[in-house]
Amino acid sequence: MTRMHIPASGRPHDELLEEMAAYQQGDIDWKGGKTWSLLYPVSDEHEHLLERSQALFMNSNGLNPMAFKSLKRLESEVVQMTASMLNGPSDAVGTMTSGGTESILLAVKSARDRARRLKPWIRNPEMVVPRTIHVAFDKAAHYFDVKPRYVTTNDDGRVDVPSLKKAIGRNTVLIAASAPQYPHGVVDPIPEIGAIAKKKKIPFHGDACFGGFMLPWLEKLGVQIPDWDFRVPGVTSISADVHKYGYAAKGASILVYRSIGYLKFQFFISTDWPGGIYASPTIAGTRPGGPIAAAWAAMQAMGEEGYLALASKALDVTRELRAGVEAIDGLTSVAELQSTVVTWRSDDAEVDVYAVADQLAERGWAVDRQQHPACVHCSVNAFNAASVKPYLTDLAAAVEHVRAHPELKTQGEAAMYGMMAKVPISGLVQHSVREVMAGMYAPDGQAPDLAKVGEGEDDGPMLQFLAKYGDQAMALLDKLDGLRGGKSGRR
Ligand SMILES: Cc1ncc(COP(=O)(O)O)c(C=O)c1O
Repeated sequence: MTRMHIPASGRPHDELLEEMAAYQQGDIDWKGGKTWSLLYPVSDEHEHLLERSQALFMNSNGLNPMAFKSLKRLESEVVQMTASMLNGPSDAVGTMTSGGTESILLAVKSARDRARRLKPWIRNPEMVVPRTIHVAFDKAAHYFDVKPRYVTTNDDGRVDVPSLKKAIGRNTVLIAASAPQYPHGVVDPIPEIGAIAKKKKIPFHGDACFGGFMLPWLEKLGVQIPDWDFRVPGVTSISADVHKYGYAAKGASILVYRSIGYLKFQFFISTDWPGGIYASPTIAGTRPGGPIAAAWAAMQAMGEEGYLALASKALDVTRELRAGVEAIDGLTSVAELQSTVVTWRSDDAEVDVYAVADQLAERGWAVDRQQHPACVHCSVNAFNAASVKPYLTDLAAAVEHVRAHPELKTQGEAAMYGMMAKVPISGLVQHSVREVMAGMYAPDGQAPDLAKVGEGEDDGPMLQFLAKYGDQAMALLDKLDGLRGGKSGRR
């Protein structure tokens, strides 16, 4: 592969746009409804509004709110609208960020820095979080040295409150829970956790990145959800992604705090830099204006009525998908319906979830495989209405195919997941995934062909092992599983 250089002279704009569109040919067919997550389209008209508002603020930079007062105003209004939607007190404050992960990173950093100021004796800060909390908390732990203490969940997918209470200790600087958690779409018991947090005077972050712009409308539509936002007194901050069910352009989330007393620990200020006094509210330096403007436009264009209408459609689609999955012999849904998520698993030893997932992928679907327990996640949107029937048809066919071909569970991605469920090899897997990523960011910059992973000489030991001995190892593990009474591979 020859390295690409900046062309010696500029090229015609039309030609460039055509070429970039051609690059998209290999992407997932989302317009054909083959995805359940990753994107949240509404209509061509809505998309056009997002494009125009982004373009209007393309050159604005939120790093300097004095220079771009318009952008500061838009950000402040987005925060106010969100705080009001989340039943925040009138003095709730916040900032916009580039997405859910940045909001979570900042919530953790603020809690750590607050503890540094108010509880300077804490040398090894910890946060207490459900095992199902979004992986961005793990990333925050990694970046900011706040040790996560993971708490187990009950069979309904919600965190176990007595265990959570027990995990809180002298070093706890933050408690967090989800509304809802991504893997199964259920809402943690926020009121009970809030009461504990309030009593112990520990900040409590509600991760509503996924559901913040959906749960308010589902509640109005009659879905039973215990209080999950600032109505719960102990909740001190909430993250809500307007680039998900807020239908904004990508790159926009809101982090709201109950009061400025919490937000001020988020800011970074340097007074010694030769470049001048530098104050930055979020992780980015330069803050693109486009996503902020598009978020403002999306919220104003949708209005409560628009959000409610789309939530109602998404809820119908969720119910249809869930009922369809449960009607397939061998499959069942994992958790109660409390959001627009359907997660399904196998309840039949002859139906390997990951083999079914591989079959769906072969039929062109983007498949979100999950583990502990083995299951597949679908985030549902109004725009998925047309996807349900073809998906269920393909799913039923995939299940039948897997029943007829038991060997499929030792091939494809099913082999990797099957192995991971049975033996403690996460260190090896991490090593292999790191190698795959290193390949992706290697000089040629190409995404690897995952089907070929495991064939090369430089693959990680896990992939080499799987490629060579995957079938035998799986057969052996299955035999052992039978002898032990079939316990391994589950939860
Ligand atoms: C519950 C939850 N929190 C956080 C995130 C992270 O959001 P982002 O991908 O925008 O960083 C997600 C993403 O799906 C999520 O579902």
